[in-house]
Amino acid sequence: MCGIIGYNGKEKVIPILIDGLKSLEYRGYDSAGIAYFKNNNIEMTKEVGRIKELEKIIKDEAAYIGIGHTRWATHGKPNKTNAHPHKVGTVTLVHNGIIENYESLKEELQKKGYHFLSDTDTEVAAGMLDDTLKSSKDMIEALSTVQSIFTGSYAFGILLDQEPDTLYAMKKDSPLIIGVKEDGYFIASDIPAILNYTKDYILLDDFDIVKIKDQQLTIYHDGKEIKHEVQTFAYDEETAQKDGYPHYMLKEIHEEPRVLEKTIKPFLENGTTSLLKNLPDISTYRHIDIVACGSAWHAGMIGKSLIEKYGKLPVQCHIASEYRYQPLFLDEKCLVIFISQSGETADTLASLKIAKEHGAHTLAIVNVASSSIARAADEVILTQAGCEIAVATTKAFDAQVAILSLLAFRTAIDKNEIDSKEIEQILEDYERLIKLTEKLIEQKDYEQIADHIYEKEDIFYLGRQIDYALSLEGSLKLKEISYIHCDAYAAGELKHGTISLVEQDTPVITIVTDEKIASKTISNMKEVRARGSYNILITTEMLDFKSDVYQDKIVLPTVHPMVMPMLTVIPLQLLAYYVALKRGCDIDKPRNLAKSVTVE
Ligand code: AGP
Repeated sequence: MCGIIGYNGKEKVIPILIDGLKSLEYRGYDSAGIAYFKNNNIEMTKEVGRIKELEKIIKDEAAYIGIGHTRWATHGKPNKTNAHPHKVGTVTLVHNGIIENYESLKEELQKKGYHFLSDTDTEVAAGMLDDTLKSSKDMIEALSTVQSIFTGSYAFGILLDQEPDTLYAMKKDSPLIIGVKEDGYFIASDIPAILNYTKDYILLDDFDIVKIKDQQLTIYHDGKEIKHEVQTFAYDEETAQKDGYPHYMLKEIHEEPRVLEKTIKPFLENGTTSLLKNLPDISTYRHIDIVACGSAWHAGMIGKSLIEKYGKLPVQCHIASEYRYQPLFLDEKCLVIFISQSGETADTLASLKIAKEHGAHTLAIVNVASSSIARAADEVILTQAGCEIAVATTKAFDAQVAILSLLAFRTAIDKNEIDSKEIEQILEDYERLIKLTEKLIEQKDYEQIADHIYEKEDIFYLGRQIDYALSLEGSLKLKEISYIHCDAYAAGELKHGTISLVEQDTPVITIVTDEKIASKTISNMKEVRARGSYNILITTEMLDFKSDVYQDKIVLPTVHPMVMPMLTVIPLQLLAYYVALKRGCDIDKPRNLAKSVTVE
């Protein structure tokens, strides 16, 4: 996934490009570049590393049309040659996505005498467009033609030598929006890139072709001019700043109580269950799949556990990059729930389209209302996490879990699977959730434990059932921002191989919140302790116990299992944060990662 920005208007373009790229750095930051018209010629500057490296070498020019790109390498190493923009013939372009058939196209173009300098699919796309333009009446026809040539995904920003007053753009399966201002237009991968200039934007559909010339915007689709509605982004100034926190991740963890309150409130107003009917009724389907990636998949596993345990409905939970290639037995009696913070994850979006082709009903749980997944799904539930900047998801994950918990709660009530006493208990614990979350966040245990483990090379997480799903999330959080090798195991599984890796002082973090299987998991703690592990127990006040089987512990308030996961994840997030902090890692923008994985 990469970040694209472009502009054509009355303001100087270079500051706009650099500012936009800085806002898009969360999408990829191994190299960057810009291209712009100066005296009707295209100037290009590229650099490896962060945007600030590019900023050091660019000049402040009187230029008003240009494109910019920040890269997360998919084809070819992060270096200047592979950095975008790429120029072939008269075409200069930036690209987010993957042209899957680029190798065969490259061979075809090389036979026609084209030479390529980089290892990228993007440079081949520029060459193909250049070649197609030679036999097209104009650029719009050429762009329409390559839509049937390219396979894969793309969002392009394009300049043509022969049209120094025009900016072109086109998209398929990669996000691209138009920013609208009275004296010019922007193209961008995501809204943050244009918010310093305008809050008005247009969402593009796949295969839209954009032409911006003389401050005029024209959008074509299937060869005809079309119009899209101009929307205004409900911009929350406070969300976009760090508010004095050292990192967005820590700020976003501190926002979790408010996020949970905003996410739950529409469905549990005044401590009654009457508004749960505002959630979809999932009890009528023959089969339910949950499909997601990364942390969203972990949230899905928690949802599966709760819906099965309390809603008494069978649920399968799948990794989207697997789901999209496996045999599916779906029909209109099936429900497929897609979970995605960004709403742009390529594998999740592709799986959604396949589920729809099978006739299944699709429900998206997303954090971005205007996202591709939200727009493609039959039904959408919005998490109220607000803009999440840190690559490691925290508040959005907790909000996803809250929605899934509420879906399980509604299903359990609809199917009379829980009695009024348990309903009252759950409602009471939802009421307490906000204050309990605030208290957990303020606890100081996390930094002390981080002191013990931040220099380790391997750290293991253990859990059973829902605590296994949470241990997966704890492990991912820690590894993605601290770069320590972490793995999560179903507690009973460790002795089937992995225990061979446990050495003296290897940290093993075990989550025990389920009373019914607590003793089994504690036995697993004894097994690793016998091999010298440094055991850290995460448990509840009710299950707390004194023992030398653990060397450190975090005790959580005891709440109903329907509410417990939203609390358990807090120490996992803060532990990861403080370990990464002690290791001096780039917490908000960890290496090799991006906030929105819009490529396969
Ligand atoms: C989580 O901290 C990671 N950033 C990553 O696993 C993320 O959850 C995954 O890429 C899915 O993203 P999505 O929720 O935007 O689809």
